[in-house]
Amino acid sequence: MSNSIDKGELVAYLEREKKYEIQDILGEGGMSTVYLGYQKALDRKVALKVILEKLTREGDFVARFQKEAKLLAQLDHPNIVKIYDYIEHENLYCLVMEYVEGDTLLEILERLHNTGEIMTIFEASYIALALCGALEHAHSRHVVHRDIKPSNIIFKRKDSALIIKLTDFGIAKLVRTTIHTLTSGFTGTPLYMSPEQFTGDVDSRSDIYSLGVLLYEMTTGHVPFRSDDLIVLYHKHVNETPPSPRTYNANLPISYEDIILKATQKSPADRYQSIGELKQDLERALYKLQLSSKQKTSVVTIPSLQTQTGEKFEFTSESILVGRGKFQGVKADIDLTDVDAEATVSRRHARIFRQDDCFYIQDLGSLNGVIINGVELEPDARQQLNHNDVIELGDVKLTFTC
Ligand SMILES: Nc1ncnc2c1ncn2[C@@H]1O[C@H](COP(=O)(O)OP(=O)(O)O)[C@@H](O)[C@H]1O
Ligand SMILES: [Mg+2]
Repeated sequence: MSNSIDKGELVAYLEREKKYEIQDILGEGGMSTVYLGYQKALDRKVALKVILEKLTREGDFVARFQKEAKLLAQLDHPNIVKIYDYIEHENLYCLVMEYVEGDTLLEILERLHNTGEIMTIFEASYIALALCGALEHAHSRHVVHRDIKPSNIIFKRKDSALIIKLTDFGIAKLVRTTIHTLTSGFTGTPLYMSPEQFTGDVDSRSDIYSLGVLLYEMTTGHVPFRSDDLIVLYHKHVNETPPSPRTYNANLPISYEDIILKATQKSPADRYQSIGELKQDLERALYKLQLSSKQKTSVVTIPSLQTQTGEKFEFTSESILVGRGKFQGVKADIDLTDVDAEATVSRRHARIFRQDDCFYIQDLGSLNGVIINGVELEPDARQQLNHNDVIELGDVKLTFTC
């Protein structure tokens, strides 16, 4: 523990303050040591993340740490590890966090690697979608994670459910992980770092790159670039095209490969511009995969709406918003802008959703209403849809197929 705060000192301080009992070491990383603690007053276990002393000596560390801690405390999402407290005492800088009892994704990937297995595409999608939710929340509050990697993803078992928790938001910002500092004693893993992270400052699109690398690894069992030499690794991230994910996993649907390759583009401008866009594509790819896996045992067609001139809009999930463009930032799943020259369809016109294997349509208070087989639907009422029903939304006539 030469790099970390002396444990005796830490225990003594925390005990003296009668706040936290240190029970165990949970792990040591490139920036911190994490202890299992017990908060007597609230009778709960906590994780104490103590920043390595050598990092706290950098000029403006304290100011940056205080600022970052405040931002992190604002995050409140089921897939984000909560920050409970912040402790600053002499050269001790510590974040007290929710303790998540469970394996990290690193342990899971290592176990799979040792048995020569990879996780299923469904499992990888479930994890990636949970991370998208966490990142969407953080990005909307201008917090960039900067260190998405398997050891920062912890799986918590609750009854029969598995909850994914992302930790260490913004912590990497405290350490300047540029190519210069990387070569002078950096001990973390740059395998998931975006090209721009090696050389300068980043925005939320850097997290999109790292999530893309993680999705690559989860679906193929390989990271796109690997080298023990940091300079070589840096050059690979900046210059090399990674092997196509399907060369490692021939069963990976092309839609997934496309998502991974778009997320891991070298230039942030060529990637998804927001995590929401990535999430939407991933949900679509997953939905198609679910349908095609059902198709192997029974004949299933993808439900769709078709215009009289033959344009087909396939459903991408169990609940579809039909409208035009965006309404309050939310894009219509089926966007009729191009087939509705007179703009007679409302931005948020109707919702079609599946319940107990039946489809229903609901008018969302549209201007021109919803007409099914010639009969107008009451506003807000829902009606079951059957194969070949004709739906009129404003001037647009659509046939429903399922
Ligand atoms: N909130 C937490 N609850 C439980 N375990 C944690 C928590 N945060 C971190 N850990 C464990 O502590 C280890 C060290 O964490 P950290 O210092 O962030 O380094 P790294 O993420 O690079 O492994 C992690 O790998 C994880 O196993
Ligand atoms: Mg960590």
